[in-house]
Amino acid sequence: MSSVIFDTEKFAAVARQAVAEGIVLLKNDKEVLPLSSGSNIALFGRTQFNYYKSGTGSGGMVNTKYVTGVREALEAYDRFTLNEKLKNTYDEWIKDNPFEAGEGWASEPWFQKEMPISLDLAKEVAASSDVAVVIIGRTAGEDQDNSTTEGSYLLTADECQMLENVRAAFDKMVVLINAGNIIDMKWMEEYTPDAVLYIWQGGQEGGNGALDVLSGDVNPSGRLTDTIAKNIEDYPSSQNFGGSKCNVQQEDIYVGYRYFETFAKDKVLYPFGFGLSYTEFSIEPVGFTYGEEEIEFDVKVTNKGSRKGKQVVQIYVSKPQGKLGNPARELVGFGKTKELQPGESETLNIVFTNYQLTSFDDSGVTGYKNAYVIEAGEYSFYIGDNVRTAEFAASFTQEETALFEQLSEALAPVVHFKRMKPELQADGSYKLIYESVPVATLKPDKLRKADLKPELPQTGDKGIKLVDVYDGKASMDDFIGQLSDEDLCCIVRGEGMSSPKVTPGCAGAFGGVTDSLLEKGIPTACCTDGPSGIRMDCGKKAFAMPNGTCLACAWNLELNEELYNWEGLELRKNKIDVLLGPGMNLHRNPLNGRNFEYFSEDPLVTGKNAAIQLKGMHKYGVTGTIKHFALNTQETGRHTVEHVASARAIRQIYLKGYEIAVKEGNAHAVMTTYGSVNGYYTASSYDLDTRILREEWGFDGIIMTDWWAKGGKSYHGNNSDMASIIRAQNDLYMVTSSAIDNTNRDNLAKELEKGKVTRFEIQRCAANICKFIMEKPVFARYIERGNELDEQLASEADDEELEFDKMIDLRIDESGVANINPADIKTARNSNNMITVSFKERGDYKLTMTVRANAKSELAQIPLSIFRDKLLVKMVTLTGEDKEWQTIEVPFDSCAMTFFLKLYFAQDGMEIKDIRFELVKSREEEFHKLFARMGEE
Ligand code: BGC
Repeated sequence: MSSVIFDTEKFAAVARQAVAEGIVLLKNDKEVLPLSSGSNIALFGRTQFNYYKSGTGSGGMVNTKYVTGVREALEAYDRFTLNEKLKNTYDEWIKDNPFEAGEGWASEPWFQKEMPISLDLAKEVAASSDVAVVIIGRTAGEDQDNSTTEGSYLLTADECQMLENVRAAFDKMVVLINAGNIIDMKWMEEYTPDAVLYIWQGGQEGGNGALDVLSGDVNPSGRLTDTIAKNIEDYPSSQNFGGSKCNVQQEDIYVGYRYFETFAKDKVLYPFGFGLSYTEFSIEPVGFTYGEEEIEFDVKVTNKGSRKGKQVVQIYVSKPQGKLGNPARELVGFGKTKELQPGESETLNIVFTNYQLTSFDDSGVTGYKNAYVIEAGEYSFYIGDNVRTAEFAASFTQEETALFEQLSEALAPVVHFKRMKPELQADGSYKLIYESVPVATLKPDKLRKADLKPELPQTGDKGIKLVDVYDGKASMDDFIGQLSDEDLCCIVRGEGMSSPKVTPGCAGAFGGVTDSLLEKGIPTACCTDGPSGIRMDCGKKAFAMPNGTCLACAWNLELNEELYNWEGLELRKNKIDVLLGPGMNLHRNPLNGRNFEYFSEDPLVTGKNAAIQLKGMHKYGVTGTIKHFALNTQETGRHTVEHVASARAIRQIYLKGYEIAVKEGNAHAVMTTYGSVNGYYTASSYDLDTRILREEWGFDGIIMTDWWAKGGKSYHGNNSDMASIIRAQNDLYMVTSSAIDNTNRDNLAKELEKGKVTRFEIQRCAANICKFIMEKPVFARYIERGNELDEQLASEADDEELEFDKMIDLRIDESGVANINPADIKTARNSNNMITVSFKERGDYKLTMTVRANAKSELAQIPLSIFRDKLLVKMVTLTGEDKEWQTIEVPFDSCAMTFFLKLYFAQDGMEIKDIRFELVKSREEEFHKLFARMGEE
């Protein structure tokens, strides 16, 4: 094997390329970009000090070794200089205006205070600069949506003033948006920047990616995966977004450009798929084949300009309106060229299936109820570099409406409402009308009962180990038959956060979580966040990757796969089997706080990106968890809200990406949401988890809940209703602190006794979990077969250095007790407190801490890792609900000499009342004897 397999420099190079390719150039007047070599840049905006590598919450908690922001990247680049006067002004100002982290989980402000820029300052700086580059930064994340307020979706007054004065003083003004999601862009009309780039949130290499585009080393080839409308109210979902009880999805399948291109073209500032380049391309369809199952286009792209670059080709279909009604355009295929030299051409072959031309009939109006159909009429294809400019390329006529796939009613709404529909007008435009949505006629629970099979006979331990199933010496049924009721109730409970049974600081452990399960040869598997890098709350470093939106905007699946090859390797190196990502909810509305983790408003773009990331990780045997299944399109009221949608919108829009990830990406793990859809919490939705995901799509992996999620019927959610979760075949409840002690006090054993959940149903989930584990690296390591890669990776050094924020000296005198002043401990996010502990007397000691959570959100996760030298001895994760003082006790046995006690806080929000170190048992005599013996020897 080669010397080093996991090479972070190579990882970084791929990430840098991915960021550069994801950046979208919205405007470039006077060819202000790329910046000429030798430019002196006036860099404005306080985000130069706090480049947002990602949003906040679980998807952003990657401890990185470094983050290269825009300023660092520009400073390190020898072909540009930064305006010294401006730089010094910012450096002075930042001393009194440090980054405001907020208090705890989900409370980091979505923007940071901007330095006021007066016209005088702007003019003074302009006199000695060639160009102004202004950075606008926004974060967002879990537990809180964006809002139409200044500092969130809208610019702040300070930002506007900065843009106004910089515009007035400079001939050339370039604006960079460092955000995970589109924000209001109407200000472009007022402040007329010459160039605008969405640089997104690019992970630890983000600034370098932006530099490459500014300098022209990379020609921008990113294209929007969302529509930028003029006003937030223009998005069709806005009227039904953000409710904490219920959101009725009246816009139905008309999400994003599907709505705008059909009903409101004039409301669009930048259409879906849009993005400029420093060169120009021609796009010419040169071949079209319409086959029984597949449609194929050959599209010739020629670089007509004078700079090398890549181009994205997008193919849209316009289906007949038929009886169902359809959007004016729907993306059916796309491709990206290699880097084309000026004058060079490449012909892309883009293939898609007839399935992509179907519509789901949930009413029976076509004659086929609950079926995918191809309605009669003309199907026209449009090809181009965005949805608006794509030109007619070919068409075919479907003579008669044809049944494509007959399915059955599943996840249909249980309340009556009306949805949008187009009505074709004589002039070819569409009028927006509303029609009633068909409601459910079947009861999921009845269907479940009809599907029940007899339980496996319980045989007791027959000595069959999981490896025997793996080796084909025993069947899975025989193996599962050995599990007692206690085993069964435990195996469906995942443990976490930060279980000591797996890699420190990870979100969950599952499988062999009790002695009895371990004895049967089930090892403990490990999962952690995700999506854009590995979260290890003990402070261990990992690579922070570009976020979902940025990667999707690159429209480069190959590159995304390569990036996730590296991610797979890093997971494997850290003994993590499952990443909790990709996140793949749709960007239904720009205000969703977690859009940065997701890809697009379009299901095809979403599904293809998720599938390729899975494929990337599968190369090294690990996998990802596609989340949050499904319709988790907002953070407001995320564990109470019910999403009401038609079966058509659910299948054609919200589930489509997942279906692609399962069928094309071979997804093995799915995470359900906190919320509910059409009557049931998703974790308890038999229709969603069993009938659609498993039976229709053939998924045979594991389904896990989101962390501490609820189960049950909408509005009656309960996080101990494990029975309803298992009935739906959501295999794993994530997470409890101790499976054997049933710390979550779930109702599984009781409901089993009462017959409300059958033994067969728990056995079925247990088998899903065991099968999953058998196929993952944890099992290869456990049976010591096929684990050569693990050995190689283990032999590669971690180049982590010991860093700390606080150093405390703790000496324990003859009294045997010493207190640490809690005020001396830094508990802010990412704080590393190093305490040198030394004693008068050798012996067994005990650390006692009294702590509680002080967080606004009940779902806040506040982890504390306690290390003895480099060894993690205890991890405690409080949630926002832990408002009462609680005591943590950690034994420190056989302390013979000084050691480092390290207290690492991964998040804000833990309060400490007292910390005490005390002697429990003296071992002075033992040590004396031992040393005496050693002396004799
Ligand atoms: C998030 C999930 C995440 C989990 C574990 C939850 O708060 O919604 O996306 O994977 O925590 O950290």
